[in-house]
Amino acid sequence: MGASTKDHHTVLITGGAGFVGSTMALKWKSADPSRRVICLDNLKRRGSELNLPRLRSAGIEFVHGDVRDANDLAALPKIDLMIECSAEPSVMAGYGSPTHYVTDTNLVGTINCLNLAARDEADTVFLSTSRVYPMHLVNRLAAEGTAQRFTIDAHTGIPGASAAGIGEDFPLTGLRSLYGATKLASELLVAEYAHIHGFRYVIDRCGVIAGPWQMGKTDQGFILLWLARHHWKQPLKYFGFGGTGKQVRDVLHVDDLFDLVVAQVASMDAMHARTFNVGGGLDNSVSLQELSAKCAAITGNTLDIGGEPLDREADIRLYVTDNTRITEATGWRPERNIDQLLADCHAWLAEHEQTLKPILG
Ligand SMILES: NC(=O)c1ccc[n+]([C@@H]2O[C@H](COP(=O)([O-])OP(=O)(O)OC[C@H]3O[C@@H](n4cnc5c(N)ncnc54)[C@H](O)[C@@H]3O)[C@@H](O)[C@H]2O)c1
Repeated sequence: MGASTKDHHTVLITGGAGFVGSTMALKWKSADPSRRVICLDNLKRRGSELNLPRLRSAGIEFVHGDVRDANDLAALPKIDLMIECSAEPSVMAGYGSPTHYVTDTNLVGTINCLNLAARDEADTVFLSTSRVYPMHLVNRLAAEGTAQRFTIDAHTGIPGASAAGIGEDFPLTGLRSLYGATKLASELLVAEYAHIHGFRYVIDRCGVIAGPWQMGKTDQGFILLWLARHHWKQPLKYFGFGGTGKQVRDVLHVDDLFDLVVAQVASMDAMHARTFNVGGGLDNSVSLQELSAKCAAITGNTLDIGGEPLDREADIRLYVTDNTRITEATGWRPERNIDQLLADCHAWLAEHEQTLKPILG
C-alpha cells in the first residue's frame, strides 16, 4: 500500500453518536489525542444520547446537527478526513412507513456531506452496505442446508458468488430495499463528487457489524437485540423462512472495522476510488438458531423461541461476505471471532445494566 500524503488532523465523524460512529471517534482520538475529532449527529437513534458523556470526557467535540441540513455541515471548521457514519440504517425503512426520512438522510444527507468534503478536499470513508446487492439474487445463494442453518450454494453460476460468500462482482440489478438503494445511489455520488472536486475516497460495503454500544432493535442490530433478550429473559421469535431460525449472516466486530479504516486512511492513495465488501466472513457466520444457542450459553438463560413462518419485507435467507479483495489490498482480515464478540457485548450489558435496560430490554 502507498503512504498517505495528508495529515488527518481534523476528523469529522457524521453519525458520530451512533454505534459505529462513536466507536470510531473514541478510538481515533485515543490513538492520537492531539487530533481534533468532531462528531455530528442529530441523536435520532434511541440510545445515541448515551454516548455523549463518553465523547465529551474523551475530549471529542459534539455538534448536534443534521446531515439533511446543508447549513449544519457548512458551519463546521475545515476538516481533513470525513468518516460518513450517519444513516437511517434500517432495511425496513419505508416499508409501511413514510419514505422521506430514509431518502432525505441517506441521499440528501450524503450530498451535503460530499459538498463539505469538496469544500475542504477531505479524504472520505463512506460506509455502505451489503444491502446494495439485490435480494432476489442473494436469496438464490441459500441452499436448504441443515436443520440449523441455510448453507451457501456455490454452484449458482452468479458472478461474484462462491463458497466463500459474496464478492464485489456480484450483480447489482434488481430490488434491494430503499436503504440499499439510497446507499448504492450514494456510492455513485461519492465517485462523481470526488472526481469533480478532487478528493480521495474509499467505500466499504459492510455486512452486519456488532459490538458494545450498539443499541440493537428489531429492525437493526439483531446480535445485540438477541443477546439482550436472553440476558433479560424476554420473548423472541424467528420471523420468516418457515420460522425455524435458519437464516444466516456473517458478523464483524466493530473493533475490526476500526482497524480496517485506520489502515485504509493511512494509505488513501492506494485505496482511492475503490469499493470493498467488508464483513466477518464465513468463519464468523451464524444462523439465528445457532445464535440462540450461543446466547443461552453466555447468559445461562435458554428461551423458548417461537416461529412466525411468513417472510418479512426485505429479509434475506443468507448473507456471507467474501473478504478476498480487501484482504488482498490491505492484508486486513477479521481478528475477533463471534464468540469474542458476544463475550464483549455481554460484559458491556452486564456493566451498564441499569442504563441499558430501558433501551435494550
Ligand atoms: N451496524 C451495521 O450492521 C451496519 C452494516 C452495514 C452498514 N452500516 C452503516 O454504518 C453506518 C453506521 O451505522 P450504525 O450501525 O452505527 O447505526 P446507528 O443508527 O447506531 O448510527 C447512525 C447515527 O446516525 C445518526 N443520524 C441519523 N439520521 C441523521 C441525520 N439526518 N443527521 C445526523 N445524524 C443522523 C443517528 O442518530 C445515529 O446516531 C451507517 O451508514 C450504516 O448504514 C451499518
